[in-house]
Amino acid sequence: MRGNQPPAQGERIPPLLYFACLIPLKNASPLRWSAMRTYHEFAPIPSPLAASASASMSGAPSQVTVDLRAIAHNTRWIKARIGADVALMAVVKANAYGHGGEQVAQTALAQGADMLAVANLEEAAALRQAGINAPILLLSYIPPRALPRALKLGLTVSLYDARLADSYQAAAQKLGTRLPVHVKVDSGMGRLGLTLPEVAALCRRLRALPNIRLDGLYTHFASADDDPDFTALQLRRFQRVLADARGQGAPIKFVHAANSAALLNSPGSVFNLARAGLLLYGLNPAPGAASPRGLQPALTWRTRIAQLKTLPPGSPVGYGKAYHTRGTETIAILPVGYADGLRRSPLTWRQVLVRGRRAPLVGRVSMEKITIDVSHIPDAAVDDEVVLLGWQGADVISAQEIAGWLDTISYEVVATLAPRAPRLYING
Ligand SMILES: Cc1ncc(COP(=O)(O)O)c(C=O)c1O
Repeated sequence: MRGNQPPAQGERIPPLLYFACLIPLKNASPLRWSAMRTYHEFAPIPSPLAASASASMSGAPSQVTVDLRAIAHNTRWIKARIGADVALMAVVKANAYGHGGEQVAQTALAQGADMLAVANLEEAAALRQAGINAPILLLSYIPPRALPRALKLGLTVSLYDARLADSYQAAAQKLGTRLPVHVKVDSGMGRLGLTLPEVAALCRRLRALPNIRLDGLYTHFASADDDPDFTALQLRRFQRVLADARGQGAPIKFVHAANSAALLNSPGSVFNLARAGLLLYGLNPAPGAASPRGLQPALTWRTRIAQLKTLPPGSPVGYGKAYHTRGTETIAILPVGYADGLRRSPLTWRQVLVRGRRAPLVGRVSMEKITIDVSHIPDAAVDDEVVLLGWQGADVISAQEIAGWLDTISYEVVATLAPRAPRLYING
């Protein structure tokens, strides 16, 4: 194993401080500030401050709370694992997997992440707009016509197709600058990237293109979570093309392959840079697996009971009358639905937490309403906090559990929470 040991197993960061300071955002829009004011509305510990704050609530129907102390802790955990001689690239694409790109990026950088990765130009531009000056690698597609903007934003781009080299050179030359690139190698994923035989030839060619600076060479694993043999094969292929590229005299500053799963399972794939996404958020890349010990999930999604009604046996509930009460039932109506990130498809959230107890969803998910059966929770009341994802009392609905209900992976659960729910940030 490379590097140092992670922090002590089972180490937990302290419970949430409900009066945590909220990060003052640069360029905060009125929407953001009003979103921040709603924070105390969901604070589960009653307090005079929460009570007075709730008087000025904006009344958002649901709210995503992101504990940046967990992000900070997870960043330190990853850094301890990879060791001081390996750079950390925090993967904050897709709004930091739904957690908030700017806030996660700033937190990870403050804890020693060396650079950031996003998918596309718009995501990178938003980070620059927020005043983030760290190196940013675009992992995915960039059309040649967008290169001038990438150059002006000081981004590093992936060179994933040899045919793009000339347009990269032309764009950089026109602006009288050099474009830093990381060459992306397809070692078996079958997606964006140069085929293996193309790599050495491209590296040779780059030496004749003075406005392109070869800063990195990387690949991405297809099955680092569950297929060590295929991962090892990809790694061997990548090592071969790396040797060839170096044989062309190309000094390559950063060589990288490991994502979160490889970081956990294939320490030999961590060259001098690790690209970590899911671990930053405290989640496990292996489907169905609990968070790695020592990591802290950062995200909680909450709503409230909008209405309660007691319905007689046989009453239809929701669109299509898909559910009929089996006896006299108390149904709670919650103001969230598929436009907020729940799914309408037959596979959807199965349960939520009310007063620390599980309540099943009944009937169909509407655009912004769901119905739950709270007959077994007699003290449930209008305006009670309901947890859709995260802890309440002694129970937790984790992203992994939800992923199991949806037959997907926890990545999709958090990354598809709609921007509609204000993100509120807890800072230590
Ligand atoms: C090229 C690349 N590297 C790294 C990552 C981060 O992966 P993970 O979240 O599993 O760490 C991703 C995410 O999809 C990716 O596309």
